[in-house]
Amino acid sequence: MKNLISIKDLLRDDIELLIKESLRMKEKGIKRTNNNVNIASLFFENSTRTRVSFETAAQDLGHYINGFSGTEGTSVKKGEPLLDTLKMFEGYGYQLIHMRHGLEGSSRYALDNCNCSIVNGGDGANSHPTQTLIDLMTIKSRKGKLENLNIGLIGDLKYGRTVHSLLRAMGFFDSKIFLVSPESLAMSKWRQEDYKTKTGNEITISDNLNEVLKELDVLYVTRIQRERFPEGLEGDIEYRKVSGSYNINLELLQQAKQDLLILHPLPRYKLNMEISMDVNKLNQCGYYDQAANGKFMRAAIIECLLNERLGGVTRELNNNLQLWDELPIKNGSKKGQRMIYRLDNGTLIDHIEHNRGDLVKSLLGVNSYDGPILVANGIRSKRYGRKDVLAIHDVSLSPEQSYMLSLISEQATVNIIKNKRVVRKGKVGLPDVIDNLVQCQNMKCISRPEHYEFAQNKFYVERKGPLKIRCHYCEQPMNREEVTKALMG
Ligand code: NCD
Repeated sequence: MKNLISIKDLLRDDIELLIKESLRMKEKGIKRTNNNVNIASLFFENSTRTRVSFETAAQDLGHYINGFSGTEGTSVKKGEPLLDTLKMFEGYGYQLIHMRHGLEGSSRYALDNCNCSIVNGGDGANSHPTQTLIDLMTIKSRKGKLENLNIGLIGDLKYGRTVHSLLRAMGFFDSKIFLVSPESLAMSKWRQEDYKTKTGNEITISDNLNEVLKELDVLYVTRIQRERFPEGLEGDIEYRKVSGSYNINLELLQQAKQDLLILHPLPRYKLNMEISMDVNKLNQCGYYDQAANGKFMRAAIIECLLNERLGGVTRELNNNLQLWDELPIKNGSKKGQRMIYRLDNGTLIDHIEHNRGDLVKSLLGVNSYDGPILVANGIRSKRYGRKDVLAIHDVSLSPEQSYMLSLISEQATVNIIKNKRVVRKGKVGLPDVIDNLVQCQNMKCISRPEHYEFAQNKFYVERKGPLKIRCHYCEQPMNREEVTKALMG
């Protein structure tokens, strides 16, 4: 594996190797390599630690580094699309791009379109995998383990990308997770579900640190990500409600374990300190150590990627697609049905969920220019009580229409009718990847047309029933209801 886009792409072995390598480098020093390469450091968003620690690590290893820190002074300000900026660096011979960008899924998009290695230094509110590896390295070096710990994440769990990646990584280790935040900044349900599905563990949720503090071995504090709140008055109001809602100070820490480890990806916000300054002097303070670890972990990441030492998860795509589940034809002429639908040639879509027939018709985009169409609503069905049926004369479904049908209806069966006889009957399946059909509903996803980045939407089918598909870029899943709504526009 030559890229680091998301924790999701790593194996537990990869994480353990990176921790081991970074701790070795911390102890023994970073050695220069003979294989130096050109590295681009492209920061479309503000950064201190992520950029500087990466660049220092690259220099210590002997690599050459160039790029920009903020878009001021670049052609991004002239309205250049992300792809063009990336292609320039590829063309100038940079073998690795370390990038931070405000849109979710931007690094994945870069990976799809460039031949260099890509390292994600933060993609909007979505993820920050290198920070998470630093967090794990720090916990491992201070606690000696990553399992059997009580780990509390506090603060902005909605917009904070570091906690998103950290929760995903904790899916590999059997520790207990506590999420503490004001309700409006809670970790999204789907991220919690991903964790629970992976581990089978429950998560403790609270809006009050006092309730859980004494149980914790690690307290991971985050800044409220003011810059990601909605613009204008709405954002101001949302922010005012939560600003200053937690502050870790000496008095509060009296309830905590003596060996509590306090982490923070930094920066903290000086006008409303989430951790008071006088906590710096406690043994419990781990955030300066954590920040310093950044250089070693990022050196380990560069080394392991350039030397292809990480295995990475390979996505099993089923090329042998079973897109049609053949069903037995019981009554080849369907005499009764022929009386109703008068379909001599065409497609009869049966068993559509009741009251969905019109929706299916409009989403399939069939219209009467193709031949007569009939939607029968609320037909009595032995299996489903009531069902809708759609008869489309003279037309057979295109692959896109078939995928669309199986996205919006779980139970529909398709009868292909030729010369008054059902010649095939089946259920349409879904391919493993759905390209260019469903729009991601995350407004910050790079695939949204509003951003003019031209990233074609793409979803992976994770589960067919009940349907769950996941955006290739921002990793947000959708269920059948959400897909149907999205298709309806
Ligand atoms: C974090 C980030 O940029 O997501 N900082 C970092 O990389 N260390 C956290 C933050 O900005 O609050």
